[in-house]
Amino acid sequence: IKRDKVSDLLKSTEFGKEVTVMGWVKTFRNNQFIALNDGSSLSNIQVVVDFENTANEILKKINTGAAIKAIGKLVESVGKGQSVEVKATTVEILGESDAERYPLQPKKHSLEFLREIAHLRFRTTTFNAVFKVRNALAFAIHQFFNERGFFYLHTPIVTASDAEGAGEMFRVTTLDFDNPPRDEEGKVNFKEDFFGRSTNLTVSGQLEGELGAMALGQIYTFGPTFRAENSNTTRHLAEFWMIEPEVAFADLEDNMNLAEDMLKYVIDYALKNCEKELEFLKGRLLDEEKNKPQAERNELNLIEKLRFCLDNDFERITYTEAIEILRRSKPNQKKQFNYLIDEWGADLQSEHERYLVEKHFKKPVILTNYPAEIKSFYMRQDDELVNGKKTVSAMDILFPGIGEIVGGSQREERLDRLEARMDEIGIPKDELYWYLDTRRYGSAPHAGFGLGFERLVLFVTGMTNIRDVIPFPRFPKNAEF
Ligand code: 4AD
Ligand code: MG
Repeated sequence: IKRDKVSDLLKSTEFGKEVTVMGWVKTFRNNQFIALNDGSSLSNIQVVVDFENTANEILKKINTGAAIKAIGKLVESVGKGQSVEVKATTVEILGESDAERYPLQPKKHSLEFLREIAHLRFRTTTFNAVFKVRNALAFAIHQFFNERGFFYLHTPIVTASDAEGAGEMFRVTTLDFDNPPRDEEGKVNFKEDFFGRSTNLTVSGQLEGELGAMALGQIYTFGPTFRAENSNTTRHLAEFWMIEPEVAFADLEDNMNLAEDMLKYVIDYALKNCEKELEFLKGRLLDEEKNKPQAERNELNLIEKLRFCLDNDFERITYTEAIEILRRSKPNQKKQFNYLIDEWGADLQSEHERYLVEKHFKKPVILTNYPAEIKSFYMRQDDELVNGKKTVSAMDILFPGIGEIVGGSQREERLDRLEARMDEIGIPKDELYWYLDTRRYGSAPHAGFGLGFERLVLFVTGMTNIRDVIPFPRFPKNAEF
């Protein structure tokens, strides 16, 4: 099908040329002016209908949501805010849309409402912008790692291992539930899962990534990961995308540098390549903030916030230093949150993370050297004890408005230490023999991290609910399409 894309026409100066546009009607005013969008640009093109020579039958069907084809001349526009328009000689209806029933009326809808009609929300300018920024960020991530000589490694979705050891896995089964295999006591024998093996959807590609890094030197994964936690927050999904680089001959500091460089690179890429989208999203946020009291408004607009992130070094402090800061902090006036945290060893709650990032340092923070107790088994054990307790070479990156965006560590490369830790917390060594082999044969210092892709998209778009930055969000009781 021959057609002219709206994005090309909006840049064109070939006035008088005959063009063919196809798209969806956003609005139709005065029986004459169609705002038409074909997805190629956030902006609509105005199509002026020759209503005197167009059948009533057709005019009646030019409704919001309908798909049309218009043929006519490209002309310079006299209207404000647009450079060109199409003076249509013919309009053809490709697909009707019942104006009464179409859920997307030409007005501002709340994000909550749009979440209920998630199958149609792509058609709004907001989601158009969000998913274009998402696309650009994905591309930028591949470009960053490619430029640095990393290899993109595909790790499995179905696996028998629990990389995080947290037991938050979706089971993958080939069991016949009408007639399941049973053990002697009559209980369903899940050992027969997946053709004789108990399997689940991956929670992380890290362990397999380490296998790759210990041969290819530096790899990254970028794929879907799954967590069967029953959490209904604005920061968690049951299915999310994660980027996991893994680097041989690297320590915690190399790891922090890589993560900071990567985040700045992809944010910079979005600023340069998604100007229109970010401008739109910035405006959207400013509109929203108009209704808020001054104190609750952000000091920086979206673009300024992103620039600020590029222009400043991330603060790097240890977990122990963070606890000191939180101890000295005062509970906020409303007493909604108590920032105080007295106990060394406790995991930080999101209110603590947000205090550090948004109130104390006012910029991204990298927290390191967490208590071993609250971190995964594979993290490298630090030599010195803190308060008589073990710490590990972990790093979490906390972002304003987001909290944890990256989690990573230097890995425990010493077989004896790793095995001792696995014994301590009851992780079966025989099941992870393949992982331990990397420590048996040519072990070396190495490090890596995981970036939650949706949390990155949240930060860059300024959206506030993670369900609004993934096309098809998966959360408890939501998996229809
Ligand atoms: O901190 P996590 O659990 O770390 C890992 O999975 C490591 N194996 C990564 C590594 O070292 N290779 O997850 C990493 C990041 C988090 O910082 C967060 O951004 C994101 O993944 N994340 C989630 N995003 C959305 N929904 C969830 N339920 C998430 N859980 C983690
Ligand atoms: Mg984490």
